[in-house]
Amino acid sequence: MQQVKAVVVKRKDAPVELVTINVPDPGPGEAVVKIQTCGVCHTDLHYKQGGINDEFPFLLGHEAAGVVEAVGPDVTGVAPGDFVVLNWRAVCGECRACRRGDLQYCFNTHNATQRMTLEDGTELTPALGIGAFAEKTLVAAGQCTKVDPEARAAAVGLLGCGVMAGIGAAINTGALTRGRSAAVIGCGGVGVAAVAGAALAGASPVIAVDIDAKKLEKARELGATHVVDSSQEDPVEAIKRICAETYEGAEGADVVIEAVGRPETWKQAFYARDLAGVLVLVGVPTPDMAVPEIPLIDVFGRGGALKSSWYGDCLPSRDFPMLVDLYRQGRLDLDAFVTEEVGLDDVEASFERMHHGDVLRSVVVL
Ligand code: APR
Ligand code: ZN
Ligand code: ZN
Repeated sequence: MQQVKAVVVKRKDAPVELVTINVPDPGPGEAVVKIQTCGVCHTDLHYKQGGINDEFPFLLGHEAAGVVEAVGPDVTGVAPGDFVVLNWRAVCGECRACRRGDLQYCFNTHNATQRMTLEDGTELTPALGIGAFAEKTLVAAGQCTKVDPEARAAAVGLLGCGVMAGIGAAINTGALTRGRSAAVIGCGGVGVAAVAGAALAGASPVIAVDIDAKKLEKARELGATHVVDSSQEDPVEAIKRICAETYEGAEGADVVIEAVGRPETWKQAFYARDLAGVLVLVGVPTPDMAVPEIPLIDVFGRGGALKSSWYGDCLPSRDFPMLVDLYRQGRLDLDAFVTEEVGLDDVEASFERMHHGDVLRSVVVL
């Protein structure tokens, strides 16, 4: 066991605290990772607000990169000294999804077995099974993916959550390629990552939609060929018009990614598709929201697919090293997601800035 500094939230809506926590030595299947960087994500704020569950105290932080310090006795996948990006959950390799080769849908994923605690022994719940606003954290070894150690940690660590969700929504769930058109509704961190993913895949046009002009500037920077301010014009009509300019007869985009998580924008995405187009829901709705009323004949008549994208349908062992290499080659601008680097004691202030929409990502650097 060792003691390190970490950011925890003890009660619903209480300010975060920088405290000392106990990190157990890694047991079978586990690894202790020395954290180098960790992005500040909306999900951390949702934990603090009690919006995820009531299992306080939480150890926050989950978009992280670092170096493996120690591994449990049976661990072979990673070794001390490896530079890794952390992911939410390790795949089991044995459930029905894993056996049929769909590891990204593993039905039996896991985190570390042992618990990190406060100094008095109170068990902590690590955010998304990671808890990386900490000098060191304990995870399942399968949550560590080795990537190019030359890469900038603050940038590639973001692949651990929102950036991967967005890129994956475009390239995995939406399966975008050259010759296909894409529209992304909502250009926060997840949406602009979807824009970057669509551009990386060669989709054209790549249409970014938001109600905030600032967000649209960032979307352009990350590869949007067209932007639509949906506070000013009807996004469905705009997407149809832009797609028809590129592909004669097109009645919308081949893939429309919804990155807001609301019924009204989901409905826009539904109608902004070309015939046989794909809708990808990557924005996370709240439990009170329902699928908007749509004539069933429209679902049938338009064909295509209505999908959702959980963590960008990513397989970290496949996707993280590939995306890090593309970043290193200058083909994926992960640096554009890092608005500022902050310290471990700046998490509360970063939540404030995120709330005002001023930053794409504040990244804690240890
Ligand atoms: N039409 C278009 N864009 C909208 C609309 C709307 N009606 N309402 C909000 N937006 C935009 C916001 O202006 C913002 O740019 O959607 C974006 C949402 O971005 P963020 O709040 O930064 O959220 P992000 O981190 O990108 O996550 C997107 O996925 O992880 C979930 O909880 C998260 O539901 C959220 C979604
Ligand atoms: Zn499995
Ligand atoms: Zn996140």
